[in-house]
Amino acid sequence: MAAFATPRPSGDPAPYRALVHPRGARYIEAIDQRALPHAVVMARIDNADTAALAIRKMWVRGAPLIGAVGAYGLALALDHDASDAALAKAHVALDATRPTAVNLRWALDRVCNAVRPLSEDERADAAWREADAICREDEGINHAIGTHGLALLREIASRKSGPLNVMTHCNAGALATCGWGTATAPLFLAHAEGLALHVWVSETRPRLQGANLTAWEMQRRGVPHTLFADVASSLLMRRGDVDVVLVGTDRVAANGDVCNKIGTYGKALAARDNDVPFYVALPSPTLDASLASGAGIPIETRSPEEVIAITGRDDWGQTTTVAIAPEGTRAVNYAFDLTPARLVSGLITERGVVAADRDAIGAMFPERFAVAERA
Ligand code: MRU
Repeated sequence: MAAFATPRPSGDPAPYRALVHPRGARYIEAIDQRALPHAVVMARIDNADTAALAIRKMWVRGAPLIGAVGAYGLALALDHDASDAALAKAHVALDATRPTAVNLRWALDRVCNAVRPLSEDERADAAWREADAICREDEGINHAIGTHGLALLREIASRKSGPLNVMTHCNAGALATCGWGTATAPLFLAHAEGLALHVWVSETRPRLQGANLTAWEMQRRGVPHTLFADVASSLLMRRGDVDVVLVGTDRVAANGDVCNKIGTYGKALAARDNDVPFYVALPSPTLDASLASGAGIPIETRSPEEVIAITGRDDWGQTTTVAIAPEGTRAVNYAFDLTPARLVSGLITERGVVAADRDAIGAMFPERFAVAERA
C-alpha cells in the first residue's frame, strides 16, 4: 500500500497533553479528565489493572485515547508476566472496559499481533514500542484530518461573510487523542491560520464532555466559542446560526453509519432539516469494516447515577456532586447513539474527505476491507 504511506506527523503545539509516556519509563501519565475543567490532575498508570480502571471510570476517554491507553495497558501487563496466558487475560480484561469505541479492540489486537510471535523476553519492550507507535501515528492521522477538514472549512467560509460558525458535540479534542483531536484538528488549524471562526460547544449531558473539556480546550487555545444546552441545537440551526456541524466518532460501519456520543443523531436530524452540512472526523482505526451497518455496534449503557446527579465546583472552590432528581427516580443512561449514513455529508479522514457509503470508504481504505474479509 505504498500509495497510502502514513502521514508525516506534525506535532500539536498545545500546552497540555492527555497522555505522556516519559522516555524510557515503564509507566504512563494521563490527565484525569474527571477533574477538568477546574483542576489539571496527572494520574500515573503503572500497571494493567490501573489502565483498565482509568478507561472504565473515564479518567481517560475518547476513542483514540482509549485505544492508546489499552495498548500501554498490555505493555504494563507484559512487564509483569509475558506468558501467552497472561497476554490473553490482559487482552480480555482491557477489552471489557468499554464496548463501543472500536479503537480499543483495534489497538489491543495490534499489540498482540506484534508480540505474539516473539519470545517472552522480547514481548514487553516490543509492546511499549508498539504503543508508542500507535500514539505517534494517532497524532499524525489527526493532523492530516485537520488539513483536509481545514480545506472544507475554508470552502464553506468562502461562501459567506463574517465568522464561520461550527457546532460540535462532546469532546473529540486533543484530550480524546494523542494530539490535535479529530473534530477539533480542523478548528485548531483554522484558528491558527487566522480564519474567522466561532465554535458552538454543546454541553453534552450527562457527563458534560462539551462543557468540561471542549470549552476548556477552546479557552486554552484562544478559539472563540459559546457553550449551549444540548437541547438548543435545533433552534440554533433553524435560526441560521450554524454553518456546519463537525463531530467525532467511536465507530463507523462499512456502510458509513456513524456511532458517536449520545445526542449526535439528534444534531444530524436537525442539520438535515435545516440544510446544515454534517461532517464526521474519522481516523481510520475507528473504521470497523467488519460490520456491514451500524446495527451491529454495541451501545454502552452506563450508571443511571450519571443522569441523576451532576458534578461541579461550588463558590468555595470545592468540587461537589449533587442530585438533580427526587430520591428513588429511575433513570436510563445510553452513552452513544447511531447516525445513519444517509444523514452524513461526509467523513473527514486522514486520506481525505469521503462519502459515507461502502464503495467510497472501501476505495479509500481497501486494506481495511481486505482484513475484514479475511477475518
Ligand atoms: O464517552 P466518551 O467521552 O469516551 O465519548 C467520546 C466521544 O463520543 C467522542 O466523540 C469520540 O470518542 C471521538 S474522540 C476523537
